[in-house]
This record gives sequence, C-alpha cells and structure tokens, in this order.
Amino acid sequence: MEKVAVVTGTSSGIGFETALALAREGYYTYATMRDITKGDKLKELASKENLKIDVLELDVDNENSAKTAIKHIFDQKQRIDVLVNNAGWVLWGCVEDVSVNEFKTQFETNFFSIIRLIQEVGPTMRNQGSGTIVNISSVVGRIGFPASPAYISSKFALEGLSESLRFEFAPFGVDVIIIEPGVIKYKDITTKVVSGVKMMTEMGTPPKEVANTIVKAIKDEKPLPRYIVGNDAAMFLEAKKNKTDIEFENYLKKELY
Ligand SMILES: NC(=O)c1ccc[n+]([C@@H]2O[C@H](COP(=O)([O-])OP(=O)(O)OC[C@H]3O[C@@H](n4cnc5c(N)ncnc54)[C@H](OP(=O)(O)O)[C@@H]3O)[C@@H](O)[C@H]2O)c1
Repeated sequence: MEKVAVVTGTSSGIGFETALALAREGYYTYATMRDITKGDKLKELASKENLKIDVLELDVDNENSAKTAIKHIFDQKQRIDVLVNNAGWVLWGCVEDVSVNEFKTQFETNFFSIIRLIQEVGPTMRNQGSGTIVNISSVVGRIGFPASPAYISSKFALEGLSESLRFEFAPFGVDVIIIEPGVIKYKDITTKVVSGVKMMTEMGTPPKEVANTIVKAIKDEKPLPRYIVGNDAAMFLEAKKNKTDIEFENYLKKELY
C-alpha cells in the first residue's frame, strides 16, 4: 500500500530536504507551502528523480487553508501516514521588546497551527490504527537562551504538547516524535546572531541531516520520543542533564558572554 506523507513549510531548509528525503523513501509526499510559487525547485528535482511529490498550498496560520489542504489529501489518498510539522520562524527580541500580540503571532505558527493540523489528521490516523506525527522542535525547546523568548517559549510549549500527545495516541498505534536540531548551518541570520556563541557556529548541522534523522525515526520499529540533531544540541542537552540549574546557567553564560 502506498504510504502518504505531509510536510509543512517545504519552500526551504529542513522542510525542503525532508520532503525530498521522504519521497526518496517511497512516500507519496505532499510538500506543502504557503506560497506555491516557491515550489519550482522541488518540482524540478521531483521530475528529474521521478519522485512522487505534490506541491500543495497550505498556510498553517490559516484555518481554512489547513482544512482545505488536509481534505484534499484525504479525498485523493484516503490516508495520511506521516505528518511533519516543520513550518516555523524565529521572532528575535528580548521580552521587553516584544509585544504580547507579537508573542501570539509567533505562537500562531510555531504552536497553535500544529494543534490545528493534529486535530485535522488525528481522527484518520486513529481509525487507520497507525501513523506518525513528527514535530520539529529545537534544542531551545528544552534550554532557555536570551534574545528570542517568544520563539523559545513556543518550542517549550511544543515539547509539552508532544509529550502529552504520545500518551493520548499510543493506544491507537499512532507515534509522536520530537526532533531537536541545534543550529542549522545554512542560515545566514542564525549564523550572524549566534556568532557570539563560540561552539555553536563551528558545530552547525546541514538541514539534510535533520531530514535523514526524520526518515530514520519514522522507520524505527519503536521510535524514541526525541531525536537530537547536531553536536551543539547534543552537547548542550548533555550538559543540562549533568549539571544543577545554577551550574548549567553559569556554563551557558560562559558560552554567551
Ligand atoms: N534553522 C535552525 O537553526 C533551526 C534549529 C532548530 C529548529 N529549527 C526549526 O526547523 C523548522 C524549519 O526551519 P528552517 O531552519 O528550515 O527555516 P526556513 O528555511 O526559514 O524554513 C521555514 C519554513 O516555514 C515556512 N513557514 C513559515 N510560516 C509559515 C506559515 N504560516 N505557513 C506555512 N509555512 C510557513 C517558511 O515558508 P516561507 O518561505 O513562505 O516563509 C519556510 O518554508 C522550524 O520549525 C524551525 O523552528 C530550525
């Protein structure tokens, strides 16, 4: 039976690579993006490699757009095996610089939209008795840093949602996986902003590595709750595990200032 995957935010970066990686694994892949004019490169690669990639419009912030896209997929394929909640962006600014409305905008894409999509695909996955939901969090879903508290809070919220969902979906054979990348190397802005963080820039990871981890995770017979991607992420999370809160804060301060 043909397996069907849906990935959000595939116009660039991790989403782009994940759509390709899933299609290369044989999934019929709906590569969704809010502006489908950005889908030409994916379409070109799909036709060159004979991959089953369907570029589909989906603005995750827009309830109608989400409902329409998911309905279209069900009408065409009657199933969804993998949903990768990848679309996201970073709102920079310290707590006092960012209005509550701006916080809400950040949460709309990085958190509420994911609830909306899970509510759309959940009933079908439960009826199928199978399915995997992959939520792209971040190392900052478990560690606070300065300068992007809205983004970091949205990823902390996503971690809590994902951990809870694992219990709710497990009896139905539906897996929930959290992916926690560290800094992704290709992003100019990230590189600039974190250039003060010595090790992070040196240890950045290409987006392809995140895509490969997602494929490996969904193929695992018993997927783990979390997959960390990148030496920087692994290093920070390991340090957090082994230190008291104060020791860890001091360790981060040494890295940051
Ligand atoms: N870059 C990193 O260092 C890093 C580290 C850890 C985790 N992550 C997470 O990885 C995920 C992918 O990020 P990335 O690094 O690949 O960045 P990216 O290249 O900027 O990709 C983000 C994608 O999300 C899409 N998007 C944003 N708002 C959307 C909306 N309302 N509806 C649909 N799509 C929307 C963007 O579409 P447009 O082209 O239309 O803007 C783009 O396709 C995010 O969740 C991010 O938080 C990134």
